[in-house]
Amino acid sequence: MAIPIKNKEGIARMRESCAIAATVLHRLKSAVQPGITTFDLDDLARKYIEEYGAKSACYGYPSHSRGVRPYPAYSCISVNDEVVHGIGSFKRILRDGDIVTLDICVWYNGYVGDNAFTVPVGVVSPAIAKLLRVTEEARAVGIAQARVGNRIGDISEAVQNFIEPHGYGIVRDMVGHGVGVSMHEEPQIPNFVDRKKSRTDLIKPGMTLAIEPMINLGAWRTKTAADGWTIITADGSPSAHFEHTVLTTESGPEILTIPRQ
Ligand code: MF3
Ligand code: CO
Repeated sequence: MAIPIKNKEGIARMRESCAIAATVLHRLKSAVQPGITTFDLDDLARKYIEEYGAKSACYGYPSHSRGVRPYPAYSCISVNDEVVHGIGSFKRILRDGDIVTLDICVWYNGYVGDNAFTVPVGVVSPAIAKLLRVTEEARAVGIAQARVGNRIGDISEAVQNFIEPHGYGIVRDMVGHGVGVSMHEEPQIPNFVDRKKSRTDLIKPGMTLAIEPMINLGAWRTKTAADGWTIITADGSPSAHFEHTVLTTESGPEILTIPRQ
């Protein structure tokens, strides 16, 4: 399967959906504070998404695992050792020193915008603060490789080379992805070099790519929690996640998930 190339109209629509996704994400960040529940955050996400006339692209997303219900929340809210796909719960109260990953993907006019970041709740330990800084920088390092003439694997390799000296675990079960008329399009964008796919696709203008390193303070292994959705680190260590949707152009990568004022 070839990587979809967006035409002018598709790119214009991607700009809209990504701007909405980013604006919702940044508004949600302002609500993060000790004492708020992850249900409250998800409920705010739902309201903000509705305000822009958009739809959550997570809600109702089918599971690949048998017997697991479709994704029941409007955003993904993942705390501490939760890597991705955390489901907001009124039982989960954020505490000082936690970290929380907010992941917002929206449909608007037939196109999906996808972005995420991990933020501290109150004051976090220096080791965790560094994990967040480094993971955000890894995203920038990956995005910088999203240039015409490079291969998708150049993104993966750059992220891996940047992260490994820190001794962090690079999540392998979850990868970045093309995004557009559906949330997950070709190609897959691992944050490590996948030796089984020695030759990855060439990057051309008009691709829209979700670049999203997921990095653990401990080892890379993850498992699925009892709810069938939430991915958690196997060793219980905290995990960080930063994601942008990026457009490839002749003049370099352009981040589309920038909030509107
Ligand atoms: N935003 C997530 C991603 O980057 C998608 C999770 S939506 C869910 O792929 F429905 F699968 F939870
Ligand atoms: Co994504």
